[in-house]
Amino acid sequence: MTDLLVLGIETSCDETAAAVLRLPGSGAPEVLSSVISSQIAAHRPYGGVVPEIAARAHVEVIDLIIRQALDKAGVRPAELSGIAATAGPGLIGGVMVGLSAGKAMALALELPLMAVNHLEGHAVSPRLAEELAYPFLLLLVSGGHCQLLEVEGIGACRRLGSTIDDAAGEAFDKIGKVLGLPYPGGPALERLAEGGAADRFPLPRALLGREGCDFSFSGLKTAAARLAEGLAEPGDKRDLAAAVQSAIARQLSERTDRAMALYVRRRGGAGLRFAVAGGVAANAEVRRQLQQTAQARGFSFTAPPLAYCTDNAAMIALAGAERLRAGLIDGLDAPARPRWPLDEAAAAASPTHAPGRKGAKA
Ligand code: KG4
Ligand code: ZN
Repeated sequence: MTDLLVLGIETSCDETAAAVLRLPGSGAPEVLSSVISSQIAAHRPYGGVVPEIAARAHVEVIDLIIRQALDKAGVRPAELSGIAATAGPGLIGGVMVGLSAGKAMALALELPLMAVNHLEGHAVSPRLAEELAYPFLLLLVSGGHCQLLEVEGIGACRRLGSTIDDAAGEAFDKIGKVLGLPYPGGPALERLAEGGAADRFPLPRALLGREGCDFSFSGLKTAAARLAEGLAEPGDKRDLAAAVQSAIARQLSERTDRAMALYVRRRGGAGLRFAVAGGVAANAEVRRQLQQTAQARGFSFTAPPLAYCTDNAAMIALAGAERLRAGLIDGLDAPARPRWPLDEAAAAASPTHAPGRKGAKA
């Protein structure tokens, strides 16, 4: 097998990112460059991502970011084997910017295009820095998504559970807001929680006795908002932040524990691998609790380095390169999709995410 050199493009939320990755015929992938332009400062005054601002900001920098990624990698466009761009799910204005840029390059350079599902990018992200063979159990926890997936291989994910209301990162962000923290709330809340007493404020344990691997964070959010109202002292907020962080981490690991039991029942007890991915995987308490759960169940534990947890284009390039190797190439008419479940069959059968007009979001 020959080496593949793939350019990845990511614009589905508030990061404009491009990366160049080499996937050798055998052996580990190599990230030659990974450039990220964050729009956080532009959205901060509004306390969240504003879709119009995001789309415009992507248009302004996309060319430059792609050029920087190629320059840093020392790769000329003519040397590329293919172009991978996120085609959804995400904010449609942003997705269109990155996907159109990718299509234009694929057309001009006569290269194959891979229209990558952003969630598949997160799903393969643990493979960027560490050897992790398929299949593995994945907890994908980000600002928009919270799901447990059985990852068979590229293009083959089966959903075991999903959130019935908010995603874990969304819960961090919304609770961060009521605690007066800047956007995004997750990292700020983790800093605030340092040294706090996690057992001072009792918080509800959602879906505790319920079968299955679904998540729910809305009860926790409401309880935390109510508790936050009466707090004036910085120490009080620190303790509440610690309680919230610990409660979110606990729910994630309890559901993962169930998914692990299910996974073992289905596949037997050999070669058990677990990975966590997405922005919330950057949280040290979340990692700690998950690592314990994995150890108790006899699973190996993989978490991507922090730079590959939050949105980036290296993961899109890797998903694209694996797709290219498997012959999974898309036409230049590939649509930009605001909603695009990874496991379409599971999402159609049980749309745990509010279905909306266009079907399940994830
Ligand atoms: O994967 P990501 O960059 O974007 C999405 O696809 O959503 O995830 C962003 C989410 C935000 O909700 C952010 O608050 C959360 O990840 N996050 C964290 C931490 N770092 C990022 N949550 C908790 N602790 C952190 N250290
Ligand atoms: Zn993401």
